[in-house]
Amino acid sequence: MELLIQAIPAWAHIFFAIVMVGGAAGGAYLNAGGISPLARGGVIGAIVTLLTSGIVQMFTVMPGAPKGWHMWFGIKFLLALHVFAMMFLLTKADATDAKRKRWHFSLLTGVALVVAIGSYLGRLRGA
Ligand code: HEM
Repeated sequence: MELLIQAIPAWAHIFFAIVMVGGAAGGAYLNAGGISPLARGGVIGAIVTLLTSGIVQMFTVMPGAPKGWHMWFGIKFLLALHVFAMMFLLTKADATDAKRKRWHFSLLTGVALVVAIGSYLGRLRGA
């Protein structure tokens, strides 16, 4: 049971954050030019997995969470929704270069904050 509600969601969360969100944000620097329109299915899959694994983790850690954890979790959640929106927009085929650059910058900023808050949440709990 511990494997199902702790280890697997924790792994899925980090794995999809690295591979899909990291790929979307960092791909441009590796000459991959952002997200291809064909990747929409992959982006939706990553969003669903990050949301589900995040919600499972939330229910696991929330009962013992200290003061401040809930507020930072709320901020992280809203920023993650912004990250998802930017990833999704980057799959649009007809966007201009200027728009794609703006969305990419916004995605990168969002990911930087979401990851910082994600690790701060663990520290708050002394994990
Ligand atoms: C852009 C999407 C997201 C990224 C890049 C991301 C990244 C991270 C990272 C790096 C951690 C720290 C993991 C660790 O230190 O072991 C984390 C923890 C966590 N994330 Fe996310 N996350 C995202 C979306 C979400 C969403 C949508 C939710 C909620 C539905 C969520 C809920 C959580 C929870 C509950 C934790 C554990 C906090 C704790 O240890 O107290 N995340 N996330």
